Amino acid sequence: MATPREKVSAVDPIWTALRQQAEAMAGLEPSLAGFVHATILQHDRLEQALSYHLAHKLGGDDLSPLAIREMFDDLVAADDGFGQAVRADLSAVFERDPACHSYLDAFLFYKGFHALESYRVSYWLWHEGRKAMALFLQSRISQLFAVDVHPAAKIGRGIMFDHATGIVIGETAVVDDDVSIMQDVTLGGTGKESGDRHPKIRRGVLLSLGAKVLGNIEVGEYSRIGAGSVVLKAIPPHCTAVGVPAKLVNCDCGDNPSQQMNHYIEELPDNTG
Ligand SMILES: CC(C)(COP(=O)(O)OP(=O)(O)OC[C@H]1O[C@@H](n2cnc3c(N)ncnc32)[C@H](O)[C@@H]1OP(=O)(O)O)[C@@H](O)C(=O)NCCC(=O)NCCS
Repeated sequence: MATPREKVSAVDPIWTALRQQAEAMAGLEPSLAGFVHATILQHDRLEQALSYHLAHKLGGDDLSPLAIREMFDDLVAADDGFGQAVRADLSAVFERDPACHSYLDAFLFYKGFHALESYRVSYWLWHEGRKAMALFLQSRISQLFAVDVHPAAKIGRGIMFDHATGIVIGETAVVDDDVSIMQDVTLGGTGKESGDRHPKIRRGVLLSLGAKVLGNIEVGEYSRIGAGSVVLKAIPPHCTAVGVPAKLVNCDCGDNPSQQMNHYIEELPDNTG
């Protein structure tokens, strides 16, 4: 018969791994043991640990950590999807970032992960009609992590904000699941449109460092935008676009070219800019 710990391990392997990694870190670095205990080991669930960790970062003179924990707890109680998104995001960082060697590294120290999960609270507050509180959190996230995501922007699961400094995502932007976003990326408006004016980034896209995608345009699934590129026109699925303004340099009809790293160049569609 399975022990309680074995049952938890079977249903929540990420939380089980986090706890094991936390115990190991506390042993290897005794001066961090108190921090690791307070942040991970004293909690029963991943959601509680995250709520504690981020509330201590986001809280301050204007709003206490306790008040922020209550918001996290309300979100967890209201929406099962939050925990799933957190686990998918943590997995995304661990699996995609070659510098990340454990779930614990990302959970404790990666501000892209902190910014993303804090945004998820602001998104929930926004849709609960608590817009002032959502904007308060946006402002704190921006101050602390140098990531400015409007609370109304819609961001899927399995997202990695790598390094994260300088990421800006506008109000009507949509980012589907499994997208990776490097530092200094902007999903912005052109300044010429109103209403629905921000990009729609489809599943599995890679937005390389410094990429700017401007306007209500779609970057098709599993496409890649090169470092420093400025994208002003829609990018078809499974394509790579680079430069200022961005042009297609290759397109691939494979199932998942961005992960297979399959880069052959073939005849390009008409809308190459
Ligand atoms: C977009 C990217 C993935 C393309 O990689 P690739 O498919 O291997 O493409 P290639 O290197 O074969 O380049 C194809 C062409 O595009 C050009 N190119 C590639 N990236 C470019 C960029 N960011 N800007 C302008 N031109 C670029 C190449 O010079 C080459 O042109 P050529 O055929 O005239 O020689 C890669 O260039 C990139 O930007 N990677 C992201 C790096 C990053 O964000 N790292 C984060 C570090 S913290």
